[in-house]
Amino acid sequence: MVKAVTLTRVVGARPQFMQAAALRRELMRRGHREILVHTGQHYDEAMSRIFFDDLGLDRPDVNLEAGSGGHGAQTGRMMSALEEFLLEHPCDALVVDGDTNSTLAGALVAAKMHIPLVHVEAGLRSFDMRMPEEVNRIVTDCLADLLCAPTTTAVSNLDKEGLSKNVVRTGDLMYDCFNSFKERADKTILDRLGLKAGDYFLATVHRAENTDDAGKLRSILSALDALPLPVILPVHPRVAGKIREYTDSVDSPGALRPIEPVGYLGMLALEAGAKCIFTDSGGVQREAFFWGKPSVVLRETTEWREIVEGGWSILSGWRSQDILNAYERIDNQYPDIPQNVRDEVFGGGLAAERVAEAIEAMLS
Ligand code: UD1
Ligand code: UDP
Repeated sequence: MVKAVTLTRVVGARPQFMQAAALRRELMRRGHREILVHTGQHYDEAMSRIFFDDLGLDRPDVNLEAGSGGHGAQTGRMMSALEEFLLEHPCDALVVDGDTNSTLAGALVAAKMHIPLVHVEAGLRSFDMRMPEEVNRIVTDCLADLLCAPTTTAVSNLDKEGLSKNVVRTGDLMYDCFNSFKERADKTILDRLGLKAGDYFLATVHRAENTDDAGKLRSILSALDALPLPVILPVHPRVAGKIREYTDSVDSPGALRPIEPVGYLGMLALEAGAKCIFTDSGGVQREAFFWGKPSVVLRETTEWREIVEGGWSILSGWRSQDILNAYERIDNQYPDIPQNVRDEVFGGGLAAERVAEAIEAMLS
């Protein structure tokens, strides 16, 4: 009989709410207690609360209200508030996932307070240290007591860095979440936007490497604008002003249709109906694959190599012509994705179970 434990789960940015929902259900089922800490990194209703509603995820036990800011200021605020909270609320282990500043803050505080640290989504690498996410994930992996790697590539990345101890290949919690919610995708969003399945593209752009450079962003937007069907672009707040500047600057409207960010169930439906997905998001690239949709990844690298190696996604970078060429290529030749391949690569929807088992083993 496994003893019941208390875990602190630190979340803060949009994709972490999906992963938290998938794991929380399994931890509860096993009789454990989870204290949900929201760092406040994402705070707009459309970037945070809507996901708790869509996922039926309990409200956080505390919101540290760190808000936006430079990397140092934001991470520092999170660390200071989290340390104070943990002094008052002890736990057996702290769980973080991914590679955001919330992940880094959680990892550093846990390490300093000698709280066993679990890193979900361990071992992902872009091999580009200019990405803030790469720094966050490497530091977190070095500090973690348990590394839950989603894919075999992630396991092998850790191995090459001498981090093979305490690594478990668990599969991907995003795939678990997708499997639980795909039937509940909110198809009414297509009617509300006047869209027909198969007759539009979906795009997202939010990565610093694309949005902090005006030339790169303009090049991406002009490629999307030149596509042959409407391009629905749910806009991340960090880039809203720049996209407005772009659409105001073009003489005649092209394909681009910026909209407010949407909730998870609306986003799943938009993905399912899209002819092709253009994105620099790790989550959206994987969901395109889960749905069996072609994707053009607006980056030079990806942490999800398996999808590109199978020909289900093409890396285009940010240059307009490269993006349009990538679309032509994938539109002409898109291989089927057998269900067993989807399950093999991403863990068959059993990631929550495997992460929970690994945590129990670590704490027993
Ligand atoms: C963060 C993660 C990124 C992840 C993304 C998920 C880091 C370093 N980056 O990027 O890896 O892919 O979340 O979406 O942690 N803003 C708002 N309202 C909000 C949140 C943000 O207006 O609710 C605006 C602010 O101007 C803020 C900017 O967006 O400065 C960037 O937000 P931030 O959380 O720092 O990084 P993301 O770009 O969201
Ligand atoms: N997403 C969403 N609404 C949006 C854009 C994204 O629900 O308007 C979801 C998407 O379906 C995926 C997750 O947010 O589950 C990905 O988050 P994001 O692209 O912000 O971050 P990344 O995965 O790149 O870290």
